[in-house]
Amino acid sequence: MGFFITFEGIEGCGKSTQLSLLKTRLEKGGRAVLGVREPGGTLLGEQVRSVLLNTTEEGIDPWAELFLYEACRAQLVAKVIRPALIEGKVVLCDRFYDSTLAYQGFGRGLDREKIAGLNTLATGGLVPDLTILVDCAEDVGLKRAWSRINAASGAKEDRFEKEDAAFHSRVREGFLEIARGASRVRVVDGSREISTVHREICDIIKGVAGL
Ligand code: TMP
Repeated sequence: MGFFITFEGIEGCGKSTQLSLLKTRLEKGGRAVLGVREPGGTLLGEQVRSVLLNTTEEGIDPWAELFLYEACRAQLVAKVIRPALIEGKVVLCDRFYDSTLAYQGFGRGLDREKIAGLNTLATGGLVPDLTILVDCAEDVGLKRAWSRINAASGAKEDRFEKEDAAFHSRVREGFLEIARGASRVRVVDGSREISTVHREICDIIKGVAGL
């Protein structure tokens, strides 16, 4: 069996950058690594991702939104993550079910026990071996997300980037509460230099998994 690591955090926290730095480092060390993202990572998942992130006049009901995330997750776990773990790969996943509890539970206010039940159904009980929560204040994260949008010509903010600061603050607090209740979650301060955060993540991975 391989090793399953998830990266979590609010918009602009730097988790995707950190995932790709870690992937490069592990590959240089001779590991077989698979990097995937949620929502996405499969044909179905990428199609549903564009539905989830694009604004339409009709909007998306919070429960409909939840089921779409869970559908992406079920497909990704069954078709990609489990097979890769069985092959012995290190799987790095950009967001996983903690994001659903944080965004749809703490952010949107849906019942967290119900969400936890759906998470278990969608993953067939798969739990990450390690979760890196890249934490930063919401104003720091949103500022970074904004400058990314401004730098990419033609890019638009997505449905979540349009949410107000209070929403992102609830999501951040949600992630921190999840971390307090689960020993698999390690919190790193994402407001620092990229290379400093990377070094800390490498130390954690070495300590936990010997990778
Ligand atoms: P990304 O910006 O990290 O690519 O994630 C896409 C958006 O989807 C992000 O705003 C968080 C949101 N999201 C949820 O609301 N619930 C979920 O379960 C997941 C995986 C993501």
